[in-house]
Amino acid sequence: MELSQRVTALAESATLAVSAKAARMKAEGIDVVGFGAGEPDFDTPENVKQAAYRAIEAGHTGYSKPTSGIPAAKRAVCEKLSRENDLEYAPENVIITAGGKMCLYLAIHALVDPGDEVIIPAPYWVSYPEMVKLAGGKPVFIQGSDENDFKLEPHHLREAITERTKMFCITSPSNPSGVTYWPDELRALADVVKENDLLVLSDEIYDRLVFNGQKSISFAATSEGAYKQTLTLNAASKTYAMTGWRIGYAAGPVPLVKAMGKLQSQSTSGAATFTQHALVEALTGDQSAVETMRVEFQRRAVLMYDRLTAMPGVRCPKPTGAFYCFPNVSGTFDRLGVTGSGSFADKLLEDANVAVVPGVAFGCDAHVRLSYAASMEQIEKGLDRIEGFLKS
Ligand SMILES: Cc1ncc(COP(=O)(O)O)c(C=O)c1O
Repeated sequence: MELSQRVTALAESATLAVSAKAARMKAEGIDVVGFGAGEPDFDTPENVKQAAYRAIEAGHTGYSKPTSGIPAAKRAVCEKLSRENDLEYAPENVIITAGGKMCLYLAIHALVDPGDEVIIPAPYWVSYPEMVKLAGGKPVFIQGSDENDFKLEPHHLREAITERTKMFCITSPSNPSGVTYWPDELRALADVVKENDLLVLSDEIYDRLVFNGQKSISFAATSEGAYKQTLTLNAASKTYAMTGWRIGYAAGPVPLVKAMGKLQSQSTSGAATFTQHALVEALTGDQSAVETMRVEFQRRAVLMYDRLTAMPGVRCPKPTGAFYCFPNVSGTFDRLGVTGSGSFADKLLEDANVAVVPGVAFGCDAHVRLSYAASMEQIEKGLDRIEGFLKS
């Protein structure tokens, strides 16, 4: 069978590949400590589950009407964005999708034509470049450095923009680096954006997981101009431990959101109706579970960061949000006889039974990603093993 060129050129998700190998080893009875997870190790809050049960009982099991999202879910998104992000939107600015990933997919396919350029700061979340390529677009990477916490500066963005630039993707807090952009940094980038005809895709899927009382803002909230040029993307997945529910949303300019809705109507027909009812409860109901998770992630971030930075040859940007550390481990490569993050991760899994994700998948081969969506006990155990591995 001859598969399409489109799918043949597509890379497998590296995060899923590592989890698969770790799962195989576990199935063989090997005690693997997994730092590969991209999802919270908490359960979905009870009030959200109850809302889904109620929706099913009430017969909300048909197609989503309209396919772009039920009115109650769109209103709940407007309420959340107003309450937490200082963003005022009407329901017509909002689309509800089957997970945050689908939002990205729709936005990229609604905007990018063959040959169009999309600016993606590295490290990036693995799916951005692949989705851009699927649309026939060209990912243009801006290589970040851990020496300044991978923060993109206005001149980096200005230099990357050409007349083919259609979109600029920004993720804060970041997967994989765990670094958050602060308001002044976003405002400086917004100043560059407003000089150019491009759309900002602001991925704010970790917006509630920011540490130490610090506060960031939405890119769209930095100025009136930024508001007009931004699609704000979010999902219930990380904030409410709902990765398997597949429920995401975005808000932005009406023509773009409408185009995304058109694509959605010809592909998935939208998110499951009862999960949309659960989203309403997640966004507008009791928020205490979010704070419990945030505090716990913050505690784990401190432990992982402190221990990693004390290891020889390891340098780590301080995590300020999400649930990842992204240390630079290139200082250990020569001693371990490895050539990059892929062989480092492989050796670590084989020799010390610890699963991490090679940074090459995120555009930074000197790094590996460790998720601390794991118990303190597992984190301590995994870090003990890494310490031993680096000394061996
Ligand atoms: C930065 C970022 N954006 C989007 C997504 C997709 O989220 P979802 O599971 O809602 O599709 C993820 C998931 O890992 C992510 O880390």
